[in-house]
Formats: sequence, C-alpha cells, structure tokens
Amino acid sequence: MQFDLSIFGSKTRSLIGLDLSSSAVKMVELGNDGKNGYRVERYAIEVLPRDVVADGNIANLEVAAETIKRAWRKLSTSTRAVAAALPTSHVITKKIIVPAGQKEEQLELVVESEANQYIPFPLDEVNLDFQVVGSAPSSPEEIEVLIAASRKEKVEDRVASVEAAGLKALIMDVESYAVLSSLELILEQLPDSGKGKIVALVDVGANVTNLTVLRDGQQLYAREQAFGGNQLTQDIARLYGMTFAEAEADKRRNALPENYETELLRPFVENMALEVSRALQFFFTSTQFNKVDHIVLSGGCAILPEADEAIASRTQIDTIVANPFAGMVLSDRVRANSLLADASSLMVACGLALRRFDQ
Ligand SMILES: Nc1ncnc2c1ncn2[C@@H]1O[C@H](COP(=O)(O)OP(=O)(O)OP(=O)(O)O)[C@@H](O)[C@H]1O
Ligand SMILES: [Mg+2]
Repeated sequence: MQFDLSIFGSKTRSLIGLDLSSSAVKMVELGNDGKNGYRVERYAIEVLPRDVVADGNIANLEVAAETIKRAWRKLSTSTRAVAAALPTSHVITKKIIVPAGQKEEQLELVVESEANQYIPFPLDEVNLDFQVVGSAPSSPEEIEVLIAASRKEKVEDRVASVEAAGLKALIMDVESYAVLSSLELILEQLPDSGKGKIVALVDVGANVTNLTVLRDGQQLYAREQAFGGNQLTQDIARLYGMTFAEAEADKRRNALPENYETELLRPFVENMALEVSRALQFFFTSTQFNKVDHIVLSGGCAILPEADEAIASRTQIDTIVANPFAGMVLSDRVRANSLLADASSLMVACGLALRRFDQ
C-alpha cells in the first residue's frame, strides 16, 4: 500500500529508501544481486537536531531539507528518486468489503464513498489510496479492499522537504508497511521462516518504544510507550555536563568516559528489558494469547551492548537483534561492521529501498 506520486515505469529504476525519523535522516539504496538476492549499494545516517521532526511532523522544513541533502551527499549516489513514508499514526487504514467484478473506475467511486464514512476530513483534503486484498472471507461475490488515507498536508510536507533537498519523491509509503517488508527478510533467518510462530517486534527508538505482535505477517497487537534512547542521551548530557547534541554524538561514537558503562549504560539496558517485559505482560493480559515465540529487537537502542541478552533473560523468550541485511551481499562501499551496528535502526529505510523491486 502506498501513495504513488508518479507512475513507475515497468523497468526497475534506482531508488533510495528515505526514513525521516525523529532522530535522524536514514537512507538505503539496494541493488540486485543475481536471481533473488539483494545487494546493499550504500547507506547513510545523518543525525537530526532535536525538535526538527517531532511526533512525525516536520517542525523545521529548512533544517530537515539540509539534513536530507547532507545524507544524500554522504550516500554518494547519482540516484535522486526517493521512496519515503508517512508515520503510521498519520494514516487511517481500514479494510472494507465491496462487490467483486467491478471495473477500476467503478471501484474507485465505491471506495471513495465508503472511505467518506471513516475519514474525519473532507475528501478533497486527503490523499486516498486503496489496494485489493483478495476475495472476502464471507462471500465469493465480494472482495476485501484496504484503504489508506492521510491528510494532504502531511504528504505535502514530506514531499516538500525531499524536493527542497534536490531529490524527487516517487513513492509515499506508510512506515509500518515498510517495516513489514524488512521484517519478512528477518523472519527468513528463523527456523522454518518463523511460520505459525508468534513474533514480537520491539522497536526501541529515540522517543518511543513500539511493540507489534504478529503471526504469519498478520498483526495481532500493537502498542506504543514513551521510552527510548533520548533518556540515555539526556542522562549522559547531565552527568558529563554536555549539550544534548554532544552527548548524542559521543554516545553513537562510543567515546564516553569509563564510568559511563556502570553509571548509565547498564541501568538503561536493564530498564529497557523491564519495559519490554512489561509491554509483553500488557499484551498477555489484554489478549487471549499467552506466549511469544520470538522477540525481534529493532531501533537504534537494539545494538546497545547486551540489550538482547538482558531482554532474553528477563522475558525468557528467544531474542534476536534485527538485521534486514543479513542475507544480502554488500558492495565494496559498505563497511560490514558499520552496517551491522546500524542495521537495527534501518528497518524503515530498508523496507522503502525494497519498493524498487515491487511489481
Ligand atoms: N551506535 C549507537 N550507539 C548507541 N545508541 C545509538 C546508536 N545508534 C543509535 N542510537 C540511539 O538510538 C536512538 C535512535 O534510534 P532510532 O534511529 O531507531 O530512532 P528513531 O526512529 O529516529 O526515533 P523514534 O522511533 O523514537 O521516532 C537514539 O537514542 C540514538 O542515540
Ligand atoms: Mg523509529
């Protein structure tokens, strides 16, 4: 599902997956390697000052565009076409049932009139897109259609920041869908590709932690809580008398004094494990489910030392750190060690880069 901003040619063109998240601009470019394989051509992460992107809104378009431009230069590519995404919370999605066998134009009209009921804004203020899911479970004469709608201004803001950076937005996807594409690649790393297993994707970012529980690609549960790496950055800033930006840079570069580990890092990782285990408890008590088979840990905090061990030991659930690139070949430009450290925070960017290969 995506808002197509221009018609894609039948030939696969190069495309950059661009994630404009609250902490950074992240870019990934993938290529083909042989029959079914992918190659990581290049990637770049450029940290954003705080409050440039807040709650998914672009509060400072100029700085956002500058940062996108810097990330693109770092990427060192000639590709300017971009697939970007809207935050999941900015998109209303709904599955509807409509009669089967309609022509495209007819279907569009039906979807529009149905959508009207679910979208709390006038239709001329929204970008609306839909996708046929398949035949309806209840009747063969009907089909299931997934509709997605977002306020035009949300789409326009993102497109504007991309264009102000000299790039071209070809696709506007939804973050949660992009994440699913990356997750699919990760699940292939599990025994029997995780078929029938209950998988908890835990994303610990800068501000928020998202828990999404899935089975066979179907979402069973989702919850967001206010916990993330910014808390650790703030503690670093306080303890060592630095600005937030300095603390963030030293944290990422691993350039902090020796007592950082015992004073701040260990307690933060323990807290993170506690948050994850609480989030899972909520899932168990508010649904009929009583187990999770695997935890996939993503987001920038996933690579903190022993984060996966701490979570596995507290929850007693097998925990792996997300790496959607694990099965891919790397181009000479990409350093394996750096990619390994950054991979868990590139779920959205990787999923968007994969759009290049969509039919
Ligand atoms: N190499 C690293 N070492 C330590 N912490 C890191 C590293 N890379 C990223 N982080 C931390 O991870 C967090 C950013 O994670 P991520 O990129 O997943 O967040 P985001 O998607 O921008 O934020 P959110 O999802 O909350 O909007 C920051 O707190 C950052 O300091
Ligand atoms: Mg994030």
